[in-house]
Amino acid sequence: MQTELKQTLLNAAHEAGQVIRHYFQGNFSVSNKEGINNLVTEVDTKAEAKIIEIIKTSFPDHDIISEEAGELSQVSPYRWIIDPIDGTVNFAHGIPICCVSIGLSFHGEMIMGAVFNPIMNELFFAEKGKGAQLNGQPISVSEKSDFRKACLVTGFPYKWPETKEHPIRVFERFILEGLPVRRLGSAAIDLCWVACGRFDGFWEYNLNPWDIAAGYLIVTEAGGRVTDFKGENYSVYDRQTLATNGLIHQEMLDLIADHSN
Ligand code: IPD
Ligand code: CA
Ligand code: CA
Repeated sequence: MQTELKQTLLNAAHEAGQVIRHYFQGNFSVSNKEGINNLVTEVDTKAEAKIIEIIKTSFPDHDIISEEAGELSQVSPYRWIIDPIDGTVNFAHGIPICCVSIGLSFHGEMIMGAVFNPIMNELFFAEKGKGAQLNGQPISVSEKSDFRKACLVTGFPYKWPETKEHPIRVFERFILEGLPVRRLGSAAIDLCWVACGRFDGFWEYNLNPWDIAAGYLIVTEAGGRVTDFKGENYSVYDRQTLATNGLIHQEMLDLIADHSN
């Protein structure tokens, strides 16, 4: 069963990646969801259809939740959590930081995840209890313990959430501390780049489970720590995500704390 799940996951990520690569910097239609820059392209829909077709062929009775298609519930303990393109704004502008993200949970626990950036040809994969990989090689989070020297990444929602403080205030606080903070535009890639040690920490408000599911497992299997902004246990359905190498987690919590709900 595990082998078939893994094959299906990797096949779906690969096939969706082929669709994304085919259209990258080419012609495709773009439309808006809510708000003026919350985009969806015809490629999101095409890649999503391919992923769902592959999963349904192997596992017709599994639950699926996917960003554009919504919830396809079968009341199964297995649930596939799909973002056909994470980083759609990047993709629509020909910026090579975009990916397909597919996570799989069993009775609510993440057991497998893949994040594939077909433009950079980087496939991140993790299986519960078996570590994380980048293109088949084991990866681990950074060993940076000096918070002052950390390199961080964050993202911003398309619409500001009803938080006590504006997320931009938290961002400002890190910047005023003199820390380098990047904003790549793909939460799934942000998480994977923490997993492989390029970044030491990532935080973001108001992500959706499809942005996080696979990346969450990849970071934790790479030895990282993921919590909410209070440092408590995390679920991919939470609205606050802090992912670090573990060593700078408390310092990041301290800086975020005053500014979260
Ligand atoms: C978005 C990206 C971005 C994050 C947004 C997400 P999408 O997903 O992950 O990095 O800041 O909150 O909605 O729309 O490109 O799938
Ligand atoms: Ca997304
Ligand atoms: Ca998306």
